[in-house]
Amino acid sequence: MAFDEIRSLAAKLESDIANGPIVPTVTPHEIRRHLAARYDFSKPLDLDEVGADVEAMLHTWQVHVTHPRYFGLFNPGVTVASIVADTLVAMYNPQLATWRTSPAANEIERHTLAWLMGKFGFPPTAIASFTSGGAEANLSAVIVALTRAFPAYGQQGLRGLSASPTFYLTGEAHHGAIRTVATDRHLRMDLGDLARRVAADRRDGGAPFMVIGTAGTTGAGAIDPLPELGRFCRSENLWFHVDAAWGGAAIISPRLKGHLAGIDGADSITCDAHKWFSVPMGAGMFFCRHPDAVGEAFRVETSYMPGKTAGPTHDPYTTSVQWSRRFIGLKLFLALAEHGESGYVEMIEHQTRMGDVLRDALQGAGWRIVNTTPLPLVCFTRDGLDTGRFLSALYQRQIAWMSEVRLAGGDPVLRACVTSFRTTESDVEWVVREMGKLT
Ligand SMILES: Cc1ncc(COP(=O)(O)O)c(C=O)c1O
Repeated sequence: MAFDEIRSLAAKLESDIANGPIVPTVTPHEIRRHLAARYDFSKPLDLDEVGADVEAMLHTWQVHVTHPRYFGLFNPGVTVASIVADTLVAMYNPQLATWRTSPAANEIERHTLAWLMGKFGFPPTAIASFTSGGAEANLSAVIVALTRAFPAYGQQGLRGLSASPTFYLTGEAHHGAIRTVATDRHLRMDLGDLARRVAADRRDGGAPFMVIGTAGTTGAGAIDPLPELGRFCRSENLWFHVDAAWGGAAIISPRLKGHLAGIDGADSITCDAHKWFSVPMGAGMFFCRHPDAVGEAFRVETSYMPGKTAGPTHDPYTTSVQWSRRFIGLKLFLALAEHGESGYVEMIEHQTRMGDVLRDALQGAGWRIVNTTPLPLVCFTRDGLDTGRFLSALYQRQIAWMSEVRLAGGDPVLRACVTSFRTTESDVEWVVREMGKLT
């Protein structure tokens, strides 16, 4: 395959995007009119022409998340190797449901996951799989933890349980909470409040089974106190899941990994390759210390699927949510192989430095920083700021893409996360200077 062609296409696209607008202005009506005028599918069209038209649509009508001045919601700039990987996968279309259908692809995924599993301090006996994203990885954790705590759940479902299962996370965690635990002033889970809630639920006949700590919250990059949460969960016999969907990549950085201390005590971990590992969507990962619990949770036997592959392997459809499975892991494997661990550390630490530059530049320009995190995510505001109006002006002038967030239910503030390894110091300084000109 001509990798060079993809490489030069990707390089051209990278520079086109970097020099073009970030935020589109388009209405649904405009796009629908365009589609209706050209594509009624009544007759075949020339692929080159359609491809060019689709590319033009993507180019013009999209927030460019790979732009160096996209400071957004964890969608990364992507490495060329990972683009090549997705192309290869589409061409060969391997089916990873069973080991024996795709031995090479399954072993490549296993090899890649084992590397990261070791970094998280999990034993080689742990089990891992690629997922469509963080939501699926978190769902996997809930299913496995439920099955472990309530063996009847797999057969009878939740209604068959005599007590109501409860799990705990903070309001800063990624999804709606079942039990929302209070946070401290740095937006980290408050252990005292957690302990009180678990005790109260037990007293009321509930059945606490799981605590979800977040390592790098979506809003503010806060890292829950992982060592303390691990100790608490062990003493209370609760499953400890760490959602490190974005922040987990920090584990490979000598400079940052100390902030994830205690993650090795988790029962399971979510970490997304399609966030800070800079590969295209969708590529999540689910790691679990207890292969037996995973096997129990996803156990399935049907006459139409091939029987279990013999030997030291497992068939992914019996250990994860997905059945038909794309070869998700190749994009991380190929990018890691091309850049090496040191290349990845450099990317992650570069982005962290850009986060520091952004924080300093904002402070220097009179903005107030309102979050505390070692990760490159800055939440900030100033007196009298109307975030909605400010962001409209920011987008309209194509200065940058940022978002707004309410931390701990407070007023909206601005949120900027360095998500591209191509963001430079001059990008950051230019953006802060231009922001100063907006009212
Ligand atoms: C902390 C955290 N967990 C989970 C998710 C969900 O991941 P995904 O969008 O890959 O499903 C996100 C998404 O931003 C996240 O920030």
